[in-house]
Amino acid sequence: MKAKVAINGYGTIGKRVADAVAAQDDMEIVGVVKTRPSFEARIAKEKGYDIYTPSEENIAEFKKSKIDVSGTLNELLGKVDIVVDATPGGMGEEYKKLYQKHGVKAIWQGGEDHELTGFSFNSEANYQDALGRDFARVVSCNTTGLVRVLYPLETVFGVKKARVTLMRRAADPNDIKTGPINSLIPDPIKLPSHHGPDVNSILHDIDITTMAVKTSTTLMHLHAINVELKQECSEADVQGIFEKRPRIRLVSSKDRIKSTAEAMEYAKDLGRPRGDMWENVVWKDSIAINKGELYFFQAIHQESDVVPENVDAIRALLEIEKDGAKSIRKTNKALGMN
Ligand SMILES: NC(=O)c1ccc[n+]([C@@H]2O[C@H](COP(=O)([O-])OP(=O)(O)OC[C@H]3O[C@@H](n4cnc5c(N)ncnc54)[C@H](OP(=O)(O)O)[C@@H]3O)[C@@H](O)[C@H]2O)c1
Repeated sequence: MKAKVAINGYGTIGKRVADAVAAQDDMEIVGVVKTRPSFEARIAKEKGYDIYTPSEENIAEFKKSKIDVSGTLNELLGKVDIVVDATPGGMGEEYKKLYQKHGVKAIWQGGEDHELTGFSFNSEANYQDALGRDFARVVSCNTTGLVRVLYPLETVFGVKKARVTLMRRAADPNDIKTGPINSLIPDPIKLPSHHGPDVNSILHDIDITTMAVKTSTTLMHLHAINVELKQECSEADVQGIFEKRPRIRLVSSKDRIKSTAEAMEYAKDLGRPRGDMWENVVWKDSIAINKGELYFFQAIHQESDVVPENVDAIRALLEIEKDGAKSIRKTNKALGMN
């Protein structure tokens, strides 16, 4: 029997997770929750997803737009095993009570604090610890990207100290309200930024400090990473470790991928839905060992890197698959990540 999944919050992350869940053979979408009728609601219907609303009050607007609604979130929660909550950050506490009332497991996103669930998830780093839990938080796009590279480095060489500068995209491409359009914003100005402690919500013992700058772009984040390793290694050793990871895509400037713009074009040419790049894009020719320290650049597609992690989190919480590596392989294969 397929696991029954609800998506509450059908925006940038929610709609992508819905499609990724629908692509798996061991889970299905029972319904998605929309607050307002929109082109996304119409397309959701065309894809065969039933639409539910947070409350009765929202239904009239859908009726006016002639979009069928199957019921409210309350009713949907009576039909599912698990809900992926991709509502705007900060709504977690309110919905947690409702999910608890219905005895439904839930997965939140990086906009919520670690404390909401007491457990933050990354497929490679702590799948085993997620097995059978009621609640989990898939960490943010940036934290997911950092954990994907720091976990193998820690496992193989040991990390003495990581220092990361994150050049963050200011807004998602569909966001017409958020700036800046001509500025670089140290964000936060008070250092270090929260990204280091967020990595520690999964990799508890890694010594990491981070700083972040908001930049006038919508495409991707760019990380400049510097790591002191406990064990000596070569650039080829690091490349070899990254090559074997299931969600790291090594690229080269020699292939004329020299920017986030070209990395996004690459994702489109790969035929990815919505032009998504689920993997970390690591420039192999940026990998350098200088005075015993490792340096490299990676780009993170904020709209999509957390999507496969949500699918694995569903399998772990529902204990559909006990082996994290198998779940990762299954998710990747179903999505066509090769
Ligand atoms: N975007 C990213 O880059 C990114 C990356 C990683 C993690 N995250 C995290 O993922 C979560 C969702 O972010 P997002 O970027 O997907 O946000 P988003 O694009 O704004 O989507 C959120 C959706 O939630 C819906 N919503 C609003 N109020 C709701 C309510 N009361 N009940 C149910 N649904 C409601 C809205 O749906 P309607 O359209 O129906 O109004 C909206 O489409 C946040 O925690 C965020 O921090 C975001």
